[in-house]
Amino acid sequence: MAQLSVDGVDFAYPNGHAVFRDFSLHVQAGEFVALLGPSGCGKSTLLNLLSGFQQPQRGSVAINGVAVTPEAPELGYVFQSPQLFPWLNALDNVRFGLRMAKRLGAAEQRERARHYLELVGLGDAAHKLPYQLSGGMQQRVALARTLVMEPTLLLMDEPFAALDAISRSSMNEETLRLWSALGQTVVFITHDIDEAVFLADRVVVLGGAPEGIRSELAIDLPRPRSQRATRKLPRFHQYSSALMDCIADAAEA
Ligand SMILES: Nc1ncnc2c1ncn2[C@@H]1O[C@H](COP(=O)(O)OP(=O)(O)OP(=O)(O)O)[C@@H](O)[C@H]1O
Ligand SMILES: [Mg+2]
Repeated sequence: MAQLSVDGVDFAYPNGHAVFRDFSLHVQAGEFVALLGPSGCGKSTLLNLLSGFQQPQRGSVAINGVAVTPEAPELGYVFQSPQLFPWLNALDNVRFGLRMAKRLGAAEQRERARHYLELVGLGDAAHKLPYQLSGGMQQRVALARTLVMEPTLLLMDEPFAALDAISRSSMNEETLRLWSALGQTVVFITHDIDEAVFLADRVVVLGGAPEGIRSELAIDLPRPRSQRATRKLPRFHQYSSALMDCIADAAEA
């Protein structure tokens, strides 16, 4: 289980653009946190700091008390576009990271890759090339490719933004199903307020750079959640509209 601490971080890009000043965020082991905020407020920058791809000028980012580096074994990253290798079939795309890390023998790598492909519902598509898969299926392969490394901290940067509404909604349910089965800590970036409310234990709204957190809201909706039942709850809509107001304020700041 991975616990994440960001403490007193200042971060500015080399051109002097300050994105965070004295920014702190703590995510408990097993917690699902969604990050919301207007375009340009620093969501992707924060994810790059969380994964050690960017270093803060001041303050610290740590996983289980250890300063983060991009090689930290706890870390898994899911990008906005699936970025699969077009010449590798689904199974070999999922297996790729295990091969690179020289983890396990070839047969075990295939077995583990197949297990995660099945987990994302693509057991039958193992030998298909990316161009033979729909956008939603490609994103599932990308998810399996990250999960196969068995990260305990999953960082997701608008992973379903490119999907149609129906695929997106089923990927949201899938994400929760996998999260409750695998027990990771998740930081999930999205522009979509309803998606954040549906998924998260806590929604953090970023904005008003460089001050950082605008506000946060604990989402107390029962689990397991399903699109049909959860979205009908009056409290779901109360959370959404509270966040809508908050983001409008953040965009004006
Ligand atoms: N390499 C860079 N050099 C200078 N400024 C940058 C760089 N990358 C991003 N920025 C600026 O930092 C701010 C935060 O960018 P970031 O990409 O983190 O925003 P975001 O919240 O992820 O936006 P979006 O929702 O559009 O993806 C923006 O004002 C952006 O223009
Ligand atoms: Mg971004």
